[in-house]
Amino acid sequence: AGTGKFFVGGNWKCNGTKDSIAKLVGDLNGAKLEDDVEIIVAPPFVYISQVKDTLTAPIQISAQNSWSGKGGAFTGEISAEQLKDTGCEWVILGHSERRHVIGETNEFIGKKAAYALSQNLKVIACVGEKLEEREAGKTFNVCFEQLKAFADAVPSWDNIVIAYEPVWAIGTGKVATPLQAQEVHAVIRGWMGKNVSSEAAKAVRIIYGGSVNGANCEELAKKEDIDGFLVGGASLKGPEFATICNSVT
Ligand code: G3P
Repeated sequence: AGTGKFFVGGNWKCNGTKDSIAKLVGDLNGAKLEDDVEIIVAPPFVYISQVKDTLTAPIQISAQNSWSGKGGAFTGEISAEQLKDTGCEWVILGHSERRHVIGETNEFIGKKAAYALSQNLKVIACVGEKLEEREAGKTFNVCFEQLKAFADAVPSWDNIVIAYEPVWAIGTGKVATPLQAQEVHAVIRGWMGKNVSSEAAKAVRIIYGGSVNGANCEELAKKEDIDGFLVGGASLKGPEFATICNSVT
């Protein structure tokens, strides 16, 4: 891990019921979490208020998506203003499931990021290559294109955490090795230095996502450019998520 505050996010994706979320929040409230770690959870929209009202652990709340502008006649969308109103401080944008399953483009995601920041939401900006892109040697270029779309749209990186999530490692149980993840994180930091500023490159936290669990987190957290994690499946289990949050002590 680098010098910034270690950051761990739990992305619950489209999982949970009122009951299972009550149990998960109870487990998190009872867990021992290290003080110097910034922790967020991202429940499905419909459970954000439940989590906000019941979570007593020092954990912030994130949304998993937001609309690209001011709310209004956009059926099915949720605006950044509404997320702020319900107590969210963060939003995850550019997750690979939104890119590759729902079909969101780089430009659309950039626009969402700029609008979310304008409404004082902080952004977890996700990037990452698909398996065939990695095999074709395009990993860095794919990440650069995705980063450039964010950079072109946002006025500042102060309130952004970058999540590197190789698509082939998401939900597959196939975690990137610490070396593989470190390599891309360092390259992303280099890109930030060249294309944004050396200050931003130094300050930005770059977290890893893709089959992180209680057993592999410690080795990953040792790497110099891995500043935290974005966790999917394992974030649905309170005790295991707490282990991941505490992996850098
Ligand atoms: O956003 C987190 C994510 O995509 C990783 O999911 O289930 O592989 O930890 P998972």
